[in-house]
Amino acid sequence: GKYRVVSTKPMPGTRWINLLIQQGCRVEICTEKKTILSVEDIIALIGDKCDGVIGQLTEDWGEELFKALSRAGGKAFSNMAVGYNNVDVNVATKYGVAVGNTPGVLTETTAELAASLTLAAARRIVEADEFMRAGLYDGWLPNLFVGNLLKGQTVGVIGAGRIGSAYARMMVEGFKMNLIYFDLYQSTRLEKFVTAYGEFLKANGETPVTWKRASSMDEVLQQADVISLHPVLDKTTYHLVNKERLSKMKKEAILINCSRGPVIDEAALVDHLRENPMFRVGLDVFEDEPYMKPGLSEMKNAIVVPHIASASKWTREGMATLAALNVLGKIKGYPVWSDANRVEPFLNENAPPPA
Ligand code: GLV
Ligand code: GLV
Repeated sequence: GKYRVVSTKPMPGTRWINLLIQQGCRVEICTEKKTILSVEDIIALIGDKCDGVIGQLTEDWGEELFKALSRAGGKAFSNMAVGYNNVDVNVATKYGVAVGNTPGVLTETTAELAASLTLAAARRIVEADEFMRAGLYDGWLPNLFVGNLLKGQTVGVIGAGRIGSAYARMMVEGFKMNLIYFDLYQSTRLEKFVTAYGEFLKANGETPVTWKRASSMDEVLQQADVISLHPVLDKTTYHLVNKERLSKMKKEAILINCSRGPVIDEAALVDHLRENPMFRVGLDVFEDEPYMKPGLSEMKNAIVVPHIASASKWTREGMATLAALNVLGKIKGYPVWSDANRVEPFLNENAPPPA
């Protein structure tokens, strides 16, 4: 191949590899056994000639890596993730490297995991499963693992972008929950959806669902029974949910996080879970992955899964394909879907969905 493209991890499916090979690239996939590569490992992988890299959210793409990539003649980097808080886009731009991400293909898959965690927390599924396996079930009881009915409760969504909106629609339509959301941008499409569904329910003699765009985050925290976090991680959303904000939530609220760990002050959350046994949380992401803050793993009112929100076969193959197309596009001089040097795709990340 004329171009050398490196993937720091094996990725699902073969389409992404075929696409690159068909377009004249030699594809090199790192086979290193350890889960998280160091900066040195990746510099070695980049070597003397490398046109583009497909990297992972566990890698720190800053000064050292973009310098190495640019020295090797590289013009393109794609994160195989929608989130790009591990990438210093300004530094990449300085070295003339275009940066891509993989939005769109993971929206529904991620929202479905957030919905799964919500149901699992509401109905205490993990605790109940542990109880069965421990041989503790000795007969039906009226008060065994009593949880929450979501129908008629209020779901609060912080960050109503693609994923947050998809989750909101699932919870409203699937479980007849009322919606309250907080986002800097108005999501007219989401509002129209809830209004239309509310009218449908009313026409059928059922209680209509309602929506409200909160004017502050605290309004959501105070009013919602379920709160799901879907912001991007940046300076403004670091520890967005802290001790003070936790104290504003209902004592029996359910908090879901499928965005990025540092959006929650995890140590404060552990204290809150300990002091409020009826408060429940479903976490896909952690402040200091792969670790959990001390005490979290002992909390019965926490459900924890290892950053798998985008892990459906269709989505992961789609993410790999999109990442390959990002890199290929830049190398071949096509217009790039997510070219950070042109800025729009990254601004689009925060843009409201079309009305
Ligand atoms: C996964 O966390 C992603 O950002 O795609
Ligand atoms: C992420 O892709 C979002 O916009 O929610």
